[in-house]
Amino acid sequence: MDAIVVDGGVPLQGNVSVSGAKNAALPILAAALLVEGEVVLEEVPDLRDIRTMIQLLQELGCAVERHADRSVSVVVEDETRSEAPYDIVKQMRAGFCVLGPLLARRGRARVSMPGGCNLGVRPVDLHLKGLRALGARFDLSGGFISAEGRLRGDEVFLSGAFGSTVLGTANVLMAATLAEGRTVIEGSACEPEIADLAGFLVACGAKITGIGSHRLEIEGVPRLTGSRWRIIPDRMEAGTFLAAAAATGGDVTVAGARATDMGAVVETLRAMGCSVERSAAGIRVVGERRPVPVDVTTLPYPGFPTDLQAPFSAALTLASGISVVTEKIYPERFMHVPELNRMGAQIRKQGPSQIIHGVDDLHGAEVMASDLRGGASLIVGGLAASGQTTVHRVYHVDRGYDGIEDKFSSLGARIRRIEGA
Ligand code: EPU
Repeated sequence: MDAIVVDGGVPLQGNVSVSGAKNAALPILAAALLVEGEVVLEEVPDLRDIRTMIQLLQELGCAVERHADRSVSVVVEDETRSEAPYDIVKQMRAGFCVLGPLLARRGRARVSMPGGCNLGVRPVDLHLKGLRALGARFDLSGGFISAEGRLRGDEVFLSGAFGSTVLGTANVLMAATLAEGRTVIEGSACEPEIADLAGFLVACGAKITGIGSHRLEIEGVPRLTGSRWRIIPDRMEAGTFLAAAAATGGDVTVAGARATDMGAVVETLRAMGCSVERSAAGIRVVGERRPVPVDVTTLPYPGFPTDLQAPFSAALTLASGISVVTEKIYPERFMHVPELNRMGAQIRKQGPSQIIHGVDDLHGAEVMASDLRGGASLIVGGLAASGQTTVHRVYHVDRGYDGIEDKFSSLGARIRRIEGA
């Protein structure tokens, strides 16, 4: 297993380019199952979850090619297969997103139930509720959901106790594009990644209105045809670089970051005392020597994203006072807390909140990633800490960041990967 070693304490300086968004590319790759003809996706990031999704598409009869210009082409060649195996879905919940497309296009699917993960229980009841409303019948046995049925449009409400479901909206939206008649999804997720998926589906001939809102209307069409689509920039990767700039008192420009998707993040950086410049080319952040403490609550879009909670918490460990960070999407998403505390942070967990007492200095330590964003927060902490930090189990980070050590190196960080550590 690889580790990342950081010799911290260097303010990050310079420009870094953002990759395409993992969480847009994953459901859009799944949506290729709906399409007749070739789909070409541009700016697909080269990371572990994407490779897993490509493997799943190949299992399901697709020919997939990755090209040197970061594009990926997908053509469905064999529609007889309809099983998403446990080995793949257990690695990545987004694999569950093939359920809607398989049902809509092939009339049946057998998809491994994803189970819980390091972020908590993570049920799929809303995915199933939405697809059931469209006429799917389900049977659960041996850890697999078997589904069949001819889909017809209907009205569904997809918001639950923690707000709208992102991948649940993706699953139902994809299924509805080929269902007979009109589907209305109330309480749909309005994350930019869902808008990107909807935009791609429209480019393939789907009829969708309300894109970017909490009410999507879909008029089913008999078929979707291949098209070329450019994946939006990754706001979570961009936000991680910006958090690292704030943590190290640096001056970083994230080229290609879309400020329009990152209002709550920009607002939080300003509250932390950073100067933020937004332009069509990207976002520039200049950090203070120490961040100003802030209270942050994660919420569905356009609120502050749960995926940036851990990286920003790492920056706030060095704030000049007390910050309260509350998690409203995944109340158990705090695996980074004991690891940051090993580096000298003073974070106390209280229910779904962290009370962060800012300290003067973090010191390097051996720490362990146990989820993607938590792992990224340990790298942010290591960049700001004095001395050397080794982040073990970095495969969690590789799920969602394309060449993270190279990108941080380009900003002047002293960071390297040790293979097989
Ligand atoms: N939920 C339910 N029932 C469901 C589905 C979700 O109760 O059927 C709950 C979840 O337990 C959670 C909340 O609803 O409390 C929101 O979950 P959601 O379904 O929106 O999460 P997701 O779609 O499974 C995506 C991202 C996550 C991101 C969340 C929230 C992808 C591939 N994953 O997950 O990204 O944290 O939305 O924004 O798009 C990451 O990239 O590190 C990551 C975990």
